[in-house]
Amino acid sequence: MKRYSPMVAIDVATKDEAISLFDQLTVEPRPILKLGMELYYHFGPEIVRAAQQRGFKIFLDLKLHDIPNTVKRAMFVLGQLGVDFTTIHAAGGSEMVAAGAAGLRAGAAAVGLPAPRLLAITQLTSIDEAALHSEQHVDLSLVESVQNYARLAEAAGADGVVCSAQEVQTIRQVTGPDFLCVTPGIRPQNAAKADQKRVVTPRQARQLGSNAIVVGRPIIQSRNPVKAYEQIEHDFLEAED
Ligand code: C5P
Repeated sequence: MKRYSPMVAIDVATKDEAISLFDQLTVEPRPILKLGMELYYHFGPEIVRAAQQRGFKIFLDLKLHDIPNTVKRAMFVLGQLGVDFTTIHAAGGSEMVAAGAAGLRAGAAAVGLPAPRLLAITQLTSIDEAALHSEQHVDLSLVESVQNYARLAEAAGADGVVCSAQEVQTIRQVTGPDFLCVTPGIRPQNAAKADQKRVVTPRQARQLGSNAIVVGRPIIQSRNPVKAYEQIEHDFLEAED
């Protein structure tokens, strides 16, 4: 099974903080850096390039969701950035996901780059069973809805999903062997959970079949981000079960 280096969520507000983390995290194997809306809306492609210049692969987590044509055109732009992963909401429907995938691949091809991996968001982890029924009026259980969106996303051309490690096995029941499950909600043993409710350790994530883990605060708020990253990387990729 394909496993990637841990993805570090660079959830900071300023360019200085981001660059300081980039400079510290120039270790081997390099983490993949997850840049999200906060940094990207502020600093745009410049922040992506600053990370790429330091040898990082980028997970640009912008969670697109709009009409298919708009998403296709936006993804065409993102496809030209040379990022390795980006995200889209499966809730936008199969036509939108397919348009997004096509735009992303066309954008990368237009500049001679490999296509980024497109990851779908199924149900946000902030949505619980009660909200699913009372707000979205969905009759499925939360797990069934996640499976439905994973299947839809794969059929529409997405390469994987972002999901909880605890959902990996149920997603794999309905998707192909190469479909990627990228899992946040990771905490090393004894780390603070903060606002994450259901967490697993890097080793548990590997045992549950995660292809890549996303880790933010346990690394970026650590007094020694490199040491924190290296321990997590070891636990996810190398430690014996
Ligand atoms: O700091 P922490 O490790 O909790 O950060 C996890 C990262 O993964 C954040 O960037 C968060 O937005 C993201 N994420 C998540 N849960 C999801 C999807 C994304 O925690 N379901």
